[in-house]
Amino acid sequence: MIFWLSFFLLFLFTLFISFISLAPWLPTFKKDLERIKNITNLQLGEKFCELGCGNGKVLFYLAKSYPNNNFLGVELALPLFLFCKFRLLLSSYNNIELNLKSLYRENLHDADVVYVFGMRDSMAGKFKKKLQAEMKFGSRVISYVFPIEGLESIFIDKGKEKDVSIYVYKF
Ligand SMILES: C[S@@+](CC[C@H](N)C(=O)[O-])C[C@H]1O[C@@H](n2cnc3c(N)ncnc32)[C@H](O)[C@@H]1O
Repeated sequence: MIFWLSFFLLFLFTLFISFISLAPWLPTFKKDLERIKNITNLQLGEKFCELGCGNGKVLFYLAKSYPNNNFLGVELALPLFLFCKFRLLLSSYNNIELNLKSLYRENLHDADVVYVFGMRDSMAGKFKKKLQAEMKFGSRVISYVFPIEGLESIFIDKGKEKDVSIYVYKF
């Protein structure tokens, strides 16, 4: 009983921390997956990293589209991480790695493309500094819906009318 109660509290705690750290869980719209794939335009050998991968919607979609590239999903909220882990176990993907940790504990030095869907305010300070310190020359960051204040985007995909914007940054 105590075990399950502690487990449940841990579930809630990690959800709460992720809520205030980057964003609460809001999945990327399914209709934008193809758009994101085109914007990402992964080249052979490039590593894709999703910071706060949620239920893995973007990660699994791209990993299927690019079977020869490596994908890393980082997620802090335990329920979402376990969901992705379970999904991975039931699938035949061998190009996805999942890390249960805060994105602030993940080193981004070897990422070629980082995808993030965070709140505008959460990405303006510490998050932006982390990207500036760790992203290697030539790498890209793709930010769904919100811009990263203080960084200059090289491209903004506005999609069609009523679509959300997607911001691309190059380092
Ligand atoms: C807006 S959702 C986006 C989910 C997913 N990237 C998508 O686009 O469908 C933000 C995600 O980031 C996770 N998150 C928030 N803070 C985090 C942190 N410090 N480290 C890792 N993940 C975090 C949340 O749990 C949530 O799953």
